[in-house]
Amino acid sequence: MKVVTILGSASSHSNTKKALTVVENKFADLGAEVTQLNPLDLKLNNPATTETEDTKRITQLVRDADVVIMATPEYHGSYSSVIKLIIDNLGYPSALCGKAVGMVGVAASPFGALKALEHLNSITTHLGCHTYPKMVNVASCYKVFDQTGALNDESLRERLEALAEGMLDYASKF
Ligand SMILES: Cc1cc2nc3c(=O)[nH]c(=O)nc-3n(C[C@H](O)[C@H](O)[C@H](O)COP(=O)(O)O)c2cc1C
Repeated sequence: MKVVTILGSASSHSNTKKALTVVENKFADLGAEVTQLNPLDLKLNNPATTETEDTKRITQLVRDADVVIMATPEYHGSYSSVIKLIIDNLGYPSALCGKAVGMVGVAASPFGALKALEHLNSITTHLGCHTYPKMVNVASCYKVFDQTGALNDESLRERLEALAEGMLDYASKF
């Protein structure tokens, strides 16, 4: 199966990236082909202006994907502008239509990224995605990852790895 992951943070010490890496590694262990869309590697223009080569490339990658994972930090009570820029560079109508989509939200708050996940869910519903209901909400992100970036919460690791396992099964239904 082909998996495209969308990283919604451009931070050099991104906690969202740390969480997403756990999911990506599990997909790779399960034999999936994983491609990450990292905002730091992409040249994207504002939506509805000139398409870049990266816009065309990532749109085709998403079209060809069996599974898409969106990972967003919670910024000011919602998803990041970075992930929205990537989503808005996936065509109109969107290449995401009909895709099996899983989500990870990451926040400093002990309540996690519930608002970011809810808002992202409203986009994927609008786009006609098959949104996997078991989103992973990463709370207190500065506590669950240590200084080296290692995850020190085993129950969170289980939830992140279960997302990869569950998504492969979920995507096979469509
Ligand atoms: C612009 C900005 C807005 C933020 N807003 C929130 C917020 O609304 N709720 C929250 O819990 N944390 C908030 N934070 C903290 C982030 O959740 C935290 O820094 C997290 O590590 C972000 O993920 P990242 O490291 O992948 O960018 C905010 C951080 C930034 C930079």
